[in-house]
Amino acid sequence: MRQVPQYLIIGNGRVARHLCHYFSSPEIHLPCRHWHRALPEAQLRDWKKEATHILLAISDGAIEPFCDAHLKDTPAVKVHFSGSLVTDRACGAHPLMTFGTALYPAEKYPAIPFLIDDNAPDFAALLPGLPNPHARLPRVQKAKYHALCVMAGNFSCILWQNLFSFLESDLGLPPETAHMYLQQQTENLKADPRRALTGPLVRGDDATIARNIASLAGSPFQDVYKAFVAAWRQGNRQNNSTHERKKIS
Ligand SMILES: NC(=O)c1ccc[n+]([C@@H]2O[C@H](COP(=O)([O-])OP(=O)(O)OC[C@H]3O[C@@H](n4cnc5c(N)ncnc54)[C@H](OP(=O)(O)O)[C@@H]3O)[C@@H](O)[C@H]2O)c1
Repeated sequence: MRQVPQYLIIGNGRVARHLCHYFSSPEIHLPCRHWHRALPEAQLRDWKKEATHILLAISDGAIEPFCDAHLKDTPAVKVHFSGSLVTDRACGAHPLMTFGTALYPAEKYPAIPFLIDDNAPDFAALLPGLPNPHARLPRVQKAKYHALCVMAGNFSCILWQNLFSFLESDLGLPPETAHMYLQQQTENLKADPRRALTGPLVRGDDATIARNIASLAGSPFQDVYKAFVAAWRQGNRQNNSTHERKKIS
């Protein structure tokens, strides 16, 4: 018979709160304790003795110092959730998801994919009891993987926030005015990522691009726009030349 895991979740931020919520959901219901640094250290000392799995849901920079200070004497499996940190103190299991302050409905959590370090134990040993989809992530690719995740998820969020706030403050329109655009762009990306881009770049409409850039004079987003145009054109050239090479060979 398999050993029932005893989880100990460390931290009291966004990921820790989502994990506690997930672990206590009726579908999963895994034995789980929750410690954060506002609680007495004596509590941590007691609980870590009984833990089979310690989940470090704390800031990236705190993971190694915390392991060194508190977890050297425990044989429990240690897991961290950073998408970029590579360390021998704990195995990485990056949930490819965004966790804000609001919790999600219980049915969402089991579908979140985890990308686990290529040298980590099997998923069933790393996070026993969790049915989530998972894949291996080569540690040498972790930094680049995370940079791309940050750009895709976080940077696009900044761009949408920028549009919402312009609509609201400069045009007196509710941010919801752009919700259908956001929704459809997301759906198009999911349905056909290679053809999801529309607008002046794909149309080769240089006059509109020049007007867009001029309109952003004085805004830090003017350089963002220019950088995107340059990056997209370079990426497009590279794609086209790969395509040409493929046609020739
Ligand atoms: N949020 C996301 O969308 C997301 C997605 C994927 C992966 N992750 C990863 O998940 C981990 C946690 O991220 P988060 O978003 O939950 O961060 P967060 O909301 O900023 O919370 C960080 C937590 O770490 C605790 N902490 C910081 N330094 C500590 C120390 N020296 N000792 C003990 N606790 C310490 C903080 O404690 P206090 O509350 O006492 O300050 C806080 O509870 C990170 O590795 C992050 O890269 C996050």
